Amino acid sequence: MVKVLFVCLGNICRSPTAQGVFQRLVAEQGLIDQFQIDSAGTSSYHVGDAPCRRMQNVARRRGIDLSKQRSRQATPADCERFDYLVAMDRANVRDMAWLCPDGQQQKISLLLDYAPHLGVSDVPDPYYSTGEAERAFDLIEEAAAALLEHIKRQALGS
Ligand code: 4NP
Repeated sequence: MVKVLFVCLGNICRSPTAQGVFQRLVAEQGLIDQFQIDSAGTSSYHVGDAPCRRMQNVARRRGIDLSKQRSRQATPADCERFDYLVAMDRANVRDMAWLCPDGQQQKISLLLDYAPHLGVSDVPDPYYSTGEAERAFDLIEEAAAALLEHIKRQALGS
């Protein structure tokens, strides 16, 4: 079983989208039984909230339903439990580095590092800018596919 946690600041825009996109990819490839996939925020700002409307709408147009997800805050137990802690931006990487004990630091990575050809480090945050939701979705979709290939090579041996 490979356990993947997507992380952003609020867990209402980017990481719920990454969770939904990655879940669909894994299901399409018939690998759903081999994965546990979740998301969390580094802050408690939106705990219990559904994903933001903007991202829900973009995701729905692309065939992904985010409506049942609810925001939760990442905890040190997540660092223990998950194999991959995948951050949406560099601030999230720093926050997870604070949260996780020394032995778990190597689990933290930046989503867009799996897709270096995109030439971008941080998934833009649609919470702050209206125009970014489509672009955020596109970047997440591209990098999530690259992440799955990485995990298949590294953890599933295929
Ligand atoms: P997210 O976006 O990290 O992609 O979920 C944000 C949501 C809420 C806030 C910041 C970013 N906020 O400051 O409340």
